[in-house]
Order: sequence, then C-alpha cells, then structure tokens
Amino acid sequence: LNPLKVGLLGFGVVGSGTWNVLTRNAEEIARRAGRHIEIVRIATRTPAKAINVVGAAVPVDNDLMTVVNDPDIDIVVELIGGTTLAKELVLKAIENGKHVVTANKALLAMHGNEIFAAASNKKVIVAFEAAVAGGIPIIKSVREGLTANRIQWLAGIINGTTNFILTEMREKGLPFADVLKKAQELGYAEADPTFDIEGVDAAHKLAILASIAFGIPVQFDKVYVEGISHLAQEDVVAADRLGYRIKLLGLAIRREKGIELRVHPCLVPKNKLIANVEGAMNAVVVKGDAIGETLYYGAGAGSEPTASAVVADLVDVTRLHTADPENRVPHLAFQADALADYPI
Ligand code: HSE
Repeated sequence: LNPLKVGLLGFGVVGSGTWNVLTRNAEEIARRAGRHIEIVRIATRTPAKAINVVGAAVPVDNDLMTVVNDPDIDIVVELIGGTTLAKELVLKAIENGKHVVTANKALLAMHGNEIFAAASNKKVIVAFEAAVAGGIPIIKSVREGLTANRIQWLAGIINGTTNFILTEMREKGLPFADVLKKAQELGYAEADPTFDIEGVDAAHKLAILASIAFGIPVQFDKVYVEGISHLAQEDVVAADRLGYRIKLLGLAIRREKGIELRVHPCLVPKNKLIANVEGAMNAVVVKGDAIGETLYYGAGAGSEPTASAVVADLVDVTRLHTADPENRVPHLAFQADALADYPI
C-alpha cells in the first residue's frame, strides 16, 4: 500500500514532537498502522524553525490553506491552536474529504458539534486524543475500553500547568508568578496562560471528555469554571497541614436530571491516589457501573507526550481509512446517543 500522506499545520511544541516521534519510530508505527504514514508538507507561521529541524526532507512554508487544499494529502494534522483560523482550516479540510487529527481542545470545545457534523456528512474522521489529558489515552479508554459501561462520574486533573504550579508552590514555596513562568518555559502553558490558571483549558477538556463519556453534545458553555489564580501559598500550605492537597479538578457527574459539569479547586484527602499526582502530570478517575472506579495517569502536557497521542490518532485513522471506507465510523469519538435523555 502507498503511504498515507499527512499535512502538518503548526510546528510548535506539539508539532515538532509529532515530527520527532513519527520519524524516530517510523518502522514500528508503519507495522502497527498497516502502512507507512508520511508527513509530506508542513505549514507554520515560523517556517525557519521547522526547516531547522526537518531540513530539506519535507517542504515547509507558511501557507496553511495550501496544505488543506492539496489533493495529495489524506490527513491534515491541525496543531496551530486558536479557534478562528483553525476552525476555517479544519472545516475546509473536511470539505475537501480529508481526515483531521487535532490537539485543539479550545476549537472542539467551542465548535466541536459543528465540526463533527461536517465530518459525518463527508464520512471523514476527526480524531482528537491529544486534546484531552495530553498523552494519556483517555478518549480511547472511555470510548472503547469502557464502552460496556454506563458512566456514573469522572473526575480529573486535566490541566498540567495548574497542577505544576500547585505542586511547586507547596514543595518549594515559590510564588505563583515565578512558577507560571517556569511552566511556560517548559512548554506546558497555553499561548494565553490565563486559559490555564482560570480553569478555561480544563473546562474545554471536560466538555469534550463528557461528550464521549455520556454521549452528549460538547457543551462548554454549561461548565461551571473557577481557576486557581485566587489561591495563595498559605492556602496550599494550610491544606497540606490539614491532610489535603489542593487540586484543580474537572468533574462530570451523572445526576437524575442531567450531567453536572464543573471545574474548580478541590481539597482532596492525601490518601487518595489522585492527591499524589504531582507536577505537570494528569490523572482521570472514571466510574462505570460495571467496572467500578478506574484511574488513568500520565503526562498531561509537553512535546512528545502530546505527540504520542497525535501519532496514535494517525495510526487509528490510517487503519480505519484503509480498512473499509464505506462503513467507516464517521468520526472517532462523538456518539450522540443520549441527547434527549441527558440534557446538561
Ligand atoms: N496548557 C495545557 C496544560 C497543555 O497545561 O495542561 C496541555 O493541554
């Protein structure tokens, strides 16, 4: 079989990680996917940086729309972030019959329903494992591993930056602003870090994850959101003395009349596993009626951890694309099977 051809949009923290993982493990990935997956074009606002890494192996420019319109490209990987241009590019890619892999949680939280509907119409796949909890395969675990279950609730540390800040404040007594700067340097924080510290990024992810877990549309505007910017170091220290850790949790809970969605700092007893998730790591607990409680833990941000999820999606899309185009699952995650039953 011919290689599946990928156009990469964006070459920042996650884009460069995707290039590195896909080229380093190319042979193993090809074996698992059933054919080679090749990045054939890269478009980024800063081509010089990408050229530095990829050399002459692949054409690099700043013409994002040309990638989306290139008839040779099968899959567009959107890693530019933001919700305006990214939306335009993703919808155009879908219109052109291309599959899309994205790590863009803000885009899916704001426009996911429209994007998924467009993908269904065109029978292309939109995959987004990297959009929630970085490298942890939480979308796949909930969608496939727990598919037999009626999910009762889920609770997660789904923003690495805030967990890193809370950990460093407690362990090293460093001031909030200094730790945030460090998180930015390490590539954990969003381009606009208020999304992290005000809980918005976690709310984006929660809205997406809840849509998979409960079979509901993505409803970011229904999430109660409170961040950590009002927390002082004394709060973190006092919680510790009382036997708790402060964690910014995303919570989705099935109630009698619908699904409750909220993001806010919580006092978690230290003897709970999730209380001991430190630094930029993420963890999600999911309770299903058959399996009981399950816990998923791993790197929630950063270059190659997030790329791990992007490349896993590329493999999934390649398998589905190759297997049976006629009976393809229209997109990899969203199944609005219970809209009427579970309004938020
Ligand atoms: N800013 C995000 C975080 C990046 O800190 O979790 C990963 O989505």
